[in-house]
Amino acid sequence: MLGGGELRESALALGLELVDAGAELAIVDLRDAAALRAAASLPATLPRVVVAGEAERPLLDALAVEPSRVASACDARAIGPLVAAATPARPRSATRVVIVSAVRGGVGRTLLVANLARRLAQRLSVTAIDLSGTGALAWWLACEPRPWSELEALGDELSPDHLALLATQALPGLRVVGGPPSAPTPPIAIAAIRAALVLDDLVLLDAPLATDALFAAAARAADRVLVLAYEDALSAATLAAVAPPDGWLILSQSRAVRLGEREVFRALPRDEAAVSAALARRDRVGGGLGRAYDDLAEILALDAS
Ligand SMILES: Nc1ncnc2c1ncn2[C@@H]1O[C@H](COP(=O)(O)OP(=O)(O)O)[C@@H](O)[C@H]1O
Ligand SMILES: [Mg+2]
Repeated sequence: MLGGGELRESALALGLELVDAGAELAIVDLRDAAALRAAASLPATLPRVVVAGEAERPLLDALAVEPSRVASACDARAIGPLVAAATPARPRSATRVVIVSAVRGGVGRTLLVANLARRLAQRLSVTAIDLSGTGALAWWLACEPRPWSELEALGDELSPDHLALLATQALPGLRVVGGPPSAPTPPIAIAAIRAALVLDDLVLLDAPLATDALFAAAARAADRVLVLAYEDALSAATLAAVAPPDGWLILSQSRAVRLGEREVFRALPRDEAAVSAALARRDRVGGGLGRAYDDLAEILALDAS
């Protein structure tokens, strides 16, 4: 990344890792003379996304720079789609990071993540990260992870060793990260995900709503996006507007197979008895809902290997 503080902030908000060498992509603010000079010595083969104003327009036109590589501002909204289009798609490999989001609140994200974590930790080593800042995930996993503020204090320095110290071992094979009372900033969330990937086989993220900037940043680091919704017209409309098209749609408290235009990947039945039994024991959910969680955990375990 070659440019000023605003560009740096956007890159971090997008979950990009800033490196001095070996980058996959250069983002260059052409309005910044120092950045322009530095970009001249980058390898000619390195793909570039540039930020340009009206003053740079004649130059871009003269060189016939591909418009899909030119952003008119430094903010994450302007450069995000260009960065995504310019970075080569990686070949499909094992799923390592799974993010669980939703189009509405209270739809069962945390319950799903807690139950997947308990199941998957029997086969793989798992880090479960609570990006909500509520502490609800830790409650379900019967542990007390350190607050995000302690991780924030480490900033860019957050290493796998730090994470190993600051995470809480909830069960054998299950590490939990992120305690209340606040959610992490996107750069710390991304740093925690990267560090967790060094420590464990699979990283599960209990994420905010799909409209949240923190979800957008974390989803860039994820291999698999699960989006929960209810079977109602409002969820269908929100889903169409905001959910990533390749996410797995998980329907909560329903058995429907479609929601609006979208095919349902898995439906989770309503099972109040199983949920209240689990609440009382602060343990995994059984019953019909538990069987649906077993099924999803099985699919993810296969996906992760
Ligand atoms: N399939 C279900 N059957 C019965 N109750 C459910 C089901 N899914 C969620 N709930 C209820 O909804 C509550 C909120 O779920 P939660 O996972 O905290 O939602 P979110 O994390 O999306 O805000 C749960 O504590 C539980 O009481
Ligand atoms: Mg929640």
